Amino acid sequence: MAKLIGKNKIYCAVFISGRGSNLKSIFRYSKKKNSKIILKLVVSNKLSAPGAKFAKKNKIITQIVNYENTIKAEKEILSLLKKNDIKLICLAGFLKILSKNFIKNFNGKIINIHPSLLPKYKGLNTHERVIKNKESYSGCTVHFVNKKLDSGKIILQQKVKLYKLDTPKKLEKRILKIENKIYPKAINQILSKI
Ligand code: GRF
Repeated sequence: MAKLIGKNKIYCAVFISGRGSNLKSIFRYSKKKNSKIILKLVVSNKLSAPGAKFAKKNKIITQIVNYENTIKAEKEILSLLKKNDIKLICLAGFLKILSKNFIKNFNGKIINIHPSLLPKYKGLNTHERVIKNKESYSGCTVHFVNKKLDSGKIILQQKVKLYKLDTPKKLEKRILKIENKIYPKAINQILSKI
């Protein structure tokens, strides 16, 4: 992990594709006196992402990246990260898969949040699958990103109990609340170890 800069903070980027509730929670954390990050950059592959609007409104550098050509898109992002001295990337509902080459460039400096108790239920539609399998618990996990999808080292996870009448929507809502709490905690945790 990167060295902390002045005021014991590092520059951080958040990658999104949509709503941005985790972006907002990371932003709120970044504004705390004792936080370890300055949220400097938001990357979105979607112009219409509500999270991108939030970022612009809050004067964070916001870049909408056209992903029609992945190689070009990643090149653009890498140069932005370099230009802004970004030392930590937080994926928060970013629906594009980063290439092996990109991950190599930022090895150990990319983290993600996933709405399940990893290593269970990697990939999409986690809540549907959890309910179908009649699990007693689900939850969410913040983890490092490596070459394999949702498989990097776990930083923090929290369990959420399932109820008989749960629907994917209800469960998503309950888990999202917990996601918004543990994401900043996980960031703080990894940066405290430097
Ligand atoms: C979250 O459920 C996160 O776990 C998943 O995508 C969703 C993003 O939600 N990777 P938001 O845009 O942060 O509200």
